[in-house]
Amino acid sequence: MLVLSTSQGELYHMDSTKFAKEALKDGLRGSVDLILTSPPYPLNQKKKYGNLQGEAYKKWFTELAPLYKELLSPKGSIVMEIGNAWEPHRPVQSLLHLESLLGFVKAADLRLVQEFICYNPSKLPSPAQWVTVNRIRTVDSYTHIWWMAKDDFPKADNTKVLRPYSKSMQQLLKRGTYNAGGRPSEHHISTNGFLKDHGGSIAHNLLELEPLDNHRDPRLPHNVLSFSNTNSNDPFMRACRAKGITPHPARMHMGVADFFIQFLTAPSDLVFDPFAGSGTTLYAAEKAARRWIGCELSEEYIAQAKIRLKDPALKEAKKKAVKVKSTTKKKTRA
Ligand SMILES: C[S@@+](CC[C@H](N)C(=O)[O-])C[C@H]1O[C@@H](n2cnc3c(N)ncnc32)[C@H](O)[C@@H]1O
Repeated sequence: MLVLSTSQGELYHMDSTKFAKEALKDGLRGSVDLILTSPPYPLNQKKKYGNLQGEAYKKWFTELAPLYKELLSPKGSIVMEIGNAWEPHRPVQSLLHLESLLGFVKAADLRLVQEFICYNPSKLPSPAQWVTVNRIRTVDSYTHIWWMAKDDFPKADNTKVLRPYSKSMQQLLKRGTYNAGGRPSEHHISTNGFLKDHGGSIAHNLLELEPLDNHRDPRLPHNVLSFSNTNSNDPFMRACRAKGITPHPARMHMGVADFFIQFLTAPSDLVFDPFAGSGTTLYAAEKAARRWIGCELSEEYIAQAKIRLKDPALKEAKKKAVKVKSTTKKKTRA
């Protein structure tokens, strides 16, 4: 059932497998440029929103792959964020997420284009039993982000997600000189290769959600930094507090959604989140002037996505995104 629409997107209250099958019949085949999602994690205990467990999870997850492949445009990408799973009552990690990835990729002849690690220095200690009680494991503090595609060369542009230059690089650019020549690592540094200002440095596949040390050089791209909003004071969290709502417990970081939308799509491209939750992907897509479709099973989280998409700041951000689009066009025409 369609529960929300804007000029760019539509949110459906529906099971995502059923939605994907219907979307294929309804003419969406080959038209999604980015599936950006965080599916229910392969946990070994049941969570509030009813995760499947073990083999049942793997089967369900694997069967999504052919559907998603058919929805994708030829140069489209699938990006999924998934956390680690632990064996119940044992201080050892489960292999379920890795088996699920292998099953997914093989079921639809996809490629793992690149894996990203999303590190959260503020992650609460878990698994609590083994980290805080027995003190025999360290904090499980990252999620995996798997970027997959049906082609070796999906649409991607790392110049859209540049990180700010480090202080030393800024100084080098100002100075106009550096120590060229051979390095012990056997790299050969050319005499002027580092003198051109590209507007920032190339992003890494480690995304750090919040800096541990505010004096250190940032490790996230500009757009991620400027849109970063995990903190308890973003408009969504404020609205939830004001309405006495408990926010979705497994929200994607807005910076992560911004990053992949900027990196892998262009304005007007179509972004799909089959497990939309509180609507992080949909918000990031709307803000960046992309078209979007979302699908979510829980009415509670649909209500939260509606709150997010009604954020008044979105209008301003959209205007900026549209401006960027037209300026870029003019530049290309000139
Ligand atoms: C990890 S959360 C996604 C959170 C989301 N990225 C956000 O930032 O809020 C997974 C979501 O999938 C939803 N879900 C679980 N099974 C589903 C299904 N079969 N169809 C659609 N949504 C489902 C859950 O209700 C949950 O909100």
